[in-house]
Amino acid sequence: RNQITGSIPPELGNLTMLNDLYLYTNQITGPIPLELGNLLNLRILDLFDNQISGSIPDSLGNITNLEYLGLYQNQITGSMPKTLGRLQSIQDLQIFDNKLSGTLPQEFGDLISLVRLGLSRNSLSGPLPANICSGDRFQYLDVSFNMFNGPIPSSLKTCTSLVRIDIQSNKLTGDISQHFGVYPQLTKMRLASNRLSGHISPNIGACTQLTVLNLAQNMITGSIPPILSKLSNLIELRLDSNHLSGEIPAEICTLANLYRLNLSSNQLSGAIPTQIEKLNKLGYLDISRNRLSGLIPEELGACMKLQSLKINNNNFNGSLPGAIGNIAGLQIMLDVSNNKLSGVLPQQLGRLQILEFLNLSHNQFSGSIPSSFASMVSLSTLDVSYNDLEGLVPTARLLQNASASWFLPNKGLCGNLSGLRPCYATTVAAHKKGKILGLLLPIVLVMGFIIVAAIVVTIILTRKKRNPQETVTAEARDLFSVWNFNGRLAFDDIVRATEDFDDKYIIGTGGYGKVYKAQLQDGQLVAVKKLHQTEEELDDERRFRSEMEILTQIRQRSIVRMYGFCSHPVYKFLVYDYIKQGSLHRILENQELAKELDWNKRIALATDVAQAISYLHHECSPPIIHRDITSNNILLDTSFKGFVSDFGTARILKPDSSNSSALAGTYGYIAPEKCDVYSFGVVVLELVMGKHPRDLLDGSLSNGEQSMMVKDILDQRPTTPISTEENSLALLIKLALSCLESSPQARPTMREAYQTLIQPSSSSTTVPFSALTLQQGMHV
Ligand SMILES: *[C@@H]1O[C@H](CO)[C@@H](O)[C@H](O)[C@H]1NC(C)=O
Ligand SMILES: *[C@@H]1O[C@H](CO)[C@@H](O)[C@H](O)[C@H]1NC(C)=O
Repeated sequence: RNQITGSIPPELGNLTMLNDLYLYTNQITGPIPLELGNLLNLRILDLFDNQISGSIPDSLGNITNLEYLGLYQNQITGSMPKTLGRLQSIQDLQIFDNKLSGTLPQEFGDLISLVRLGLSRNSLSGPLPANICSGDRFQYLDVSFNMFNGPIPSSLKTCTSLVRIDIQSNKLTGDISQHFGVYPQLTKMRLASNRLSGHISPNIGACTQLTVLNLAQNMITGSIPPILSKLSNLIELRLDSNHLSGEIPAEICTLANLYRLNLSSNQLSGAIPTQIEKLNKLGYLDISRNRLSGLIPEELGACMKLQSLKINNNNFNGSLPGAIGNIAGLQIMLDVSNNKLSGVLPQQLGRLQILEFLNLSHNQFSGSIPSSFASMVSLSTLDVSYNDLEGLVPTARLLQNASASWFLPNKGLCGNLSGLRPCYATTVAAHKKGKILGLLLPIVLVMGFIIVAAIVVTIILTRKKRNPQETVTAEARDLFSVWNFNGRLAFDDIVRATEDFDDKYIIGTGGYGKVYKAQLQDGQLVAVKKLHQTEEELDDERRFRSEMEILTQIRQRSIVRMYGFCSHPVYKFLVYDYIKQGSLHRILENQELAKELDWNKRIALATDVAQAISYLHHECSPPIIHRDITSNNILLDTSFKGFVSDFGTARILKPDSSNSSALAGTYGYIAPEKCDVYSFGVVVLELVMGKHPRDLLDGSLSNGEQSMMVKDILDQRPTTPISTEENSLALLIKLALSCLESSPQARPTMREAYQTLIQPSSSSTTVPFSALTLQQGMHV
């Protein structure tokens, strides 16, 4: 470790008593003098990290006492001398990072003392000696980055002393399931970039010390064996660029130390296991270029250590979960391109403040690019091309140099970027189109003004309790602030946010009309329910208003808050809080979400819904009957808290009026509030069974097949209920069955139903839950 220059003097070969010769890390040039072969007492010859050139002299093979030969990191050329096969004492032979060529003589199979062999990064070719693991001490084999071809050396199969094997980037052939055995000490196995075939042998599960397993870029077939989960020390698993098929086994998600997982470029199918969330040390995940499908699980957002996430070029559908925005350390890339993803882009992506590369292209994303994208200050590439996006491209600082090809084609993105149309292009274009449009446009605008000016809007200032209602006419106000709540210009805002109720903002439809999602200018999301205009409703304007005024005053923690309404000859709509996750019905239809909606959450949900309906029936004056309690009208937020929604068909029950109605024909005239009780019973059974209890209602209950086991109707997707949950479930089922009594008089009131749930009677059943029948459920 000096700055010695020049070449090694041949005279050193006269020091025949020399044991150790260290010349490493200098600037020595020239060849290795063949005279060094005279140093017959030499045990250590260390010449690494110089600029030694020329070839390895045959004479070195004479030093039969040599234990260590370090020639690595030099400029040595020529081929490996056969004579080195005579080094009977050699334990450590390191000649990597040179320019050796030619073959590795079979004589290397005679090195019976060899523990480590390092020949990587040369240009060696031909087959590896079959007997390379001839002694029983062989631990490290590194011949990576050469041009070796032919089969895997047969001696490796039983070489149980192996600690590391690296043969990557050669042209070796053979069936990996045949040529490798069980290696109890093996920590790193790198076989990548060869021509290996066959399937991954279950033997691999016995190599429990493995931290690195890299089989990438071969021709490996078959599926990923779940037994890989036995490799609990694994940090890096690369199986990319092979011909693997089948599903990603959920078992590998138990590899708690995994940091790099690359399964890219195979033929894997099926979904991403939701257990992926357990891989909480994962820094790199690449499952791109497969045939994976299904929804991208929300759980992926729990892999908080991810720096790079690639799921592109698959068949994933559904929306991109907002939870991805939680991966604060995501820096290198997020690539979801070339899938079948749809829906709006989640606002939460904007939280990825250190992300540099984001590719969302070649999907079916719609809506606008969330304004939050402007806060992704590190982004240097944002590709959203080939989607159905529209609206303004957010102006992030680093996107000033963006290429228009990142945004085109799309449905209609506009912005201040060369190649994109400016955002007010329609007006500009209209002017350019010449006189006719130039004349028409003002006329259209004037007519629009007249129509809007004719609007009379009722304002409910929900925050201002002192002044709950205030009627104003549009004429009295600025044209675009006709309806103002919470200090916002809501009317204009809503019409603009939904592009005058364009179909693409529809998130639901029903008999009453359509529901639109609108993002107000300050970012708040609201659900806007636009009601059909029927003759009758117009006649009954006064009643509609008084009902709505009462509904806007409802404040209950499990009822979707209604902010206000608008009623005029052109528009009649209600504005509600927007609840994220969607309806209970939708969640129960989704395997992953249904699983996440565990028994505890379901029990809490039933209790919340009971409380909400009880509030409507018993604490509102006059009482409010919902009339349409179904799993479609119970919305859940991201923590699965439930909210009763949809008062589209609700009517205020005037105690003095005979406001009874027929319910769905089948059950005859019944007390109107008892129809909500019945519907509640259906929803509770739906929660318990995970699906609409249609069959049960049609069959078992009326046919006396009540001996059906409770455990047999339970939704199998959540984990098995624990004993406290079993008690609550038995209670829920009992309550649901009483709500479904065919005689309305026999049904409890919602207040009683709610009380039952929060104050369960101590006299619980003696029948174990696993043996409980529906009949017993009815009478416990
Ligand atoms: C995964 O493997 C593919 C193909 O072999 C490669 O192109 C890609 O860079 C790898 N990804 C990571 C994150 O290492
Ligand atoms: C984004 O992904 C698409 C499809 O996978 C690819 O063609 C495109 O080159 C990527 N964009 C950038 C900027 O790398």
